Amino acid sequence: MANQEDIFKKVISHAKEYGYIFQSSEIYDGLSAVYDYGQNGAELKKNIREYWWKAMVQLNDNIVGIDAAIFMHPTTWKASGHVDAFNDPLIDNKDSKKRYRADVLVEDHVAKIEAKIDKEVTKAAKRFGDSFDREQFLTTNQRVLDYQAKADGILKRLGRSLENEDLADVKALIEELGIVCPVSGSKNWTDVKQFNLMFGTKLGASAETATDLYLRPETAQGIFVNFLNVQKTGRLKIPFGIAQTGKAFRNEIVARQFIFRMREFEQMEMQYFIKPGTQKEWYDAWKEKRMKWHLSLGMGKKNYRFHDHEKLAHYADAAADIEFKFPFGFRELEGIHSRTDFDLGSHEEYSGKKLQYFDPELNESYVPYVLETSIGLDRMFLAVFSNSLQEEQLENNTSRVVLKLPAVLAPTKAAILPLLKRDGLPEVAQKLVDDLKWDFNVAYDEKDAVGRRYRRQDAVGTPFCVTIDHQTLEDDTVTIRHRDSMEQQRVLLSEVKGIIAKEVDIREWLKEL
Ligand code: GAP
Repeated sequence: MANQEDIFKKVISHAKEYGYIFQSSEIYDGLSAVYDYGQNGAELKKNIREYWWKAMVQLNDNIVGIDAAIFMHPTTWKASGHVDAFNDPLIDNKDSKKRYRADVLVEDHVAKIEAKIDKEVTKAAKRFGDSFDREQFLTTNQRVLDYQAKADGILKRLGRSLENEDLADVKALIEELGIVCPVSGSKNWTDVKQFNLMFGTKLGASAETATDLYLRPETAQGIFVNFLNVQKTGRLKIPFGIAQTGKAFRNEIVARQFIFRMREFEQMEMQYFIKPGTQKEWYDAWKEKRMKWHLSLGMGKKNYRFHDHEKLAHYADAAADIEFKFPFGFRELEGIHSRTDFDLGSHEEYSGKKLQYFDPELNESYVPYVLETSIGLDRMFLAVFSNSLQEEQLENNTSRVVLKLPAVLAPTKAAILPLLKRDGLPEVAQKLVDDLKWDFNVAYDEKDAVGRRYRRQDAVGTPFCVTIDHQTLEDDTVTIRHRDSMEQQRVLLSEVKGIIAKEVDIREWLKEL
């Protein structure tokens, strides 16, 4: 079986080969952790965004969507806490001049200890054969228990030092563990310093008069500063939500894992404004609602789990991640945060403007509490794409690579294939394309043998292929081939649209919500 690294490499090369994702500015050797979406990637991304928008905005009477600017008044980021608290702890190696996230160096060291545990397990499984009980081995083998205790102790100390902002102890920990720079191999480290993740830029024509700005590190603040504009003009009553999708920017230092952690990425966020004191109930409700949205795509319940945060961000009184099983393991896909009145309260303070809601039932005004759902669009793209990419062994001793994207998200819904390039078959195929393209993205392909064309569409994730042959000219029937089952059906030309529509109808996918 291919290991995780090989699977992930395949995901990255497939994404490039089939026009989904390219390295940004590739002809200049690329820009690290910045990516471009190609012709199929742009469609898949748009479809995921729309799937989210419909579920959050269109299907909820009390949630509206906005589109705020990326540039915001610089005081926004003082009020939000990003200027003071949106930091990563960094350390430099004096010999290689390379910069690292101090916490990641320690975590990588722990990962090596955990790898030793895995090695012990593999060895024991070989030795004991069928009678091997993994759980029992993990809880009783002394060497494994020692490794585990060591790993837990390191992580606990790291967590405590970061929480107490004790950066000297983070450095002491790196030194005590004997961690060396992966490039120079030396232990010649600088002190650990906090590094702000926001990108700065300037607004204005001359250096003297220019104002320092930040590229927004989250879309949420565009919602908070517009809270009253939207509430008043939309005559919205609490509870209500404001949603938006858009670009966010973070100067990530450890930017690995393809589009999982990018410097320029897109978020899909919703802030739900509620009565103070009701946050627990809404927190639970939104956790459930968001998990249902994920499950509606049919990518397998076993691939998701909740991770409740112990260490909370400066703005939250409760927080959980929805984690997804990526090719490199379970990682955060979406965050659900109970943000209290932190943001609106802080913007009131910094702007001097009241950001309160008059509650007609209570006959009083208050700063609403906020429940946030926040998902990275690119990370969702990676979840969908990596989960869909499969290599299947077929009966005739061959294999196929197939991208089993949920049909509702697939960039192209159907490929129309004339069996031959003559006898009037291309004309019938083109007529079908011209009819279907008003409803769906469809492709026309007449090159190569039909079997090869099927494989090409499988690899790009097209749910249906429709083949026009000589029989079509006689009785108006075509062959429709289903990507996942490879089953072929003979149907009337006039039935094709209905068959595709049924499978890609968003109503069918979202009806369980
Ligand atoms: N407004 C809250 C907020 O921004 P977050 O946990 O920092 O919270 C929310 O980010 C989501 O945005 C994450 O769950 C992840 O899906 C996505 N995200 C965050 N940083 C990212 C990055 N560097 N690259 C890609 N996606 C990212």
